[in-house]
Amino acid sequence: MYTIEPINEIKTEVTVPADKSISHRAVFFSAIGDKKIKIYPFLSSNDTQASLDCIKKLGIEYCQDDSSQKTIYLQGKGLYFPKDKKVELFAGESGTTIRILSGLLVGQKFSSVFRAGNYLDKRPMGRIVYPLREMGANIDGDKMVKQEQGDLYPPLKIEPASGLKGKSHTLNIASAQVKSALLLAGLYAKGETVVEEPYKSRDHTERMLQAFGANIEIDKNRVSLKPGAQLNLPNEIFIPSDFSAAAFFIVLALILEKSRIIVKNVNLNPSRCGLLKVLRRMNADITIENKKEKIEPYGDIVVKSSRLCSTVVEQSEIAAMIDEVPILCVAAAYAKGQTQIKGLEELRVKETDRVFSMVSNLSQAGVDILDKDDSPDGCQIIINGGCGYRGVDFKSFGDHRTAMSLIIFSLAAKEKNKIDDIRCIDKSFPGFIKIIKECKTP
Ligand code: S3P
Repeated sequence: MYTIEPINEIKTEVTVPADKSISHRAVFFSAIGDKKIKIYPFLSSNDTQASLDCIKKLGIEYCQDDSSQKTIYLQGKGLYFPKDKKVELFAGESGTTIRILSGLLVGQKFSSVFRAGNYLDKRPMGRIVYPLREMGANIDGDKMVKQEQGDLYPPLKIEPASGLKGKSHTLNIASAQVKSALLLAGLYAKGETVVEEPYKSRDHTERMLQAFGANIEIDKNRVSLKPGAQLNLPNEIFIPSDFSAAAFFIVLALILEKSRIIVKNVNLNPSRCGLLKVLRRMNADITIENKKEKIEPYGDIVVKSSRLCSTVVEQSEIAAMIDEVPILCVAAAYAKGQTQIKGLEELRVKETDRVFSMVSNLSQAGVDILDKDDSPDGCQIIINGGCGYRGVDFKSFGDHRTAMSLIIFSLAAKEKNKIDDIRCIDKSFPGFIKIIKECKTP
């Protein structure tokens, strides 16, 4: 059990770790490049370590600086990994590792088996398996017949394909992991691969493909890739800080009184920062300083305590803030009025069902929050904001974003709270607790 004592205010400047999505992609792209690449600062966490471990098993060498682990040097070997026998890979709990790397594996000349940890083992893989098969990929998942889930799950079994062909995919969900897997498989295919999403998901893969010389066209939610162009990677890949990690501190400064925080060098990619737009609508005092760009835009986010009011978040806004919904629930719990967050189906298949994890925990603490899954607007959360919440024992359900959101909620609460398990935070943000402790003013 971890105990969280409330605090009154924060006045500080923090740097949160490097972006998780870009760290994974930097590893994958460097691996299929043809030179030694420096990746910095790299997010050193359980999820990104899973990607590094997999790449190593695929015959790619890398070294990490000993002290901070924040710089990686990785020697690419081109599109085909130097293996000729079957490879067994383990993705741990990283959905990004198993889903995106599978896009590269279906183009290889060797077989592979991709296994997953206990939580990831129950997350759906049909969303990559079926469209990859339409491109001629030889990939299968586990049916988990006993659980009657009706999808495919890890382990994934991949055999060499007799020839991949480009295909036009229309996705019924917005997913950057699925889009990336299909585009990367498209590098090995004959003909054009097109991916069209209902709403634009994070576009780090497209930005990198474009910057590295791939033949790619991007038109709103539609991306098309023609294979054959020689990828020309730079000597260094710079990774800005993770907006999803910054979001916890942004909300903390907003809901505490007399507070101010600067979060340095944060990724400001519009396909990631949907939360900023929503918080500003809620009357949040947030400004951006020192804006720069290196493949991705980034800058310093300056936040001051604000009297938040409620808002309605439409389904079309969710893709650009999919990982920030738990922390938005916390902001809404301290805002005046009724906040409605629509279009949350995808939240149910994250590391845990985050609709359930947030609604069950916050309602226990006295927040007026409910989950409506039968409305014409699909799955939604409705929160009537308030204050003076009671101290309770929270459950993280092994989910990093649930755990961090509940810690932020507790820091602004009136009574101390406890949370059962916070080890899951290391999935994306080792050092979170240390920064929280540093934030506390004496
Ligand atoms: C990610 C995409 C999102 C996000 C996840 C990371 C990525 O998942 O929730 O944390 O790096 O591509 P989906 O593609 O399932 O939406």
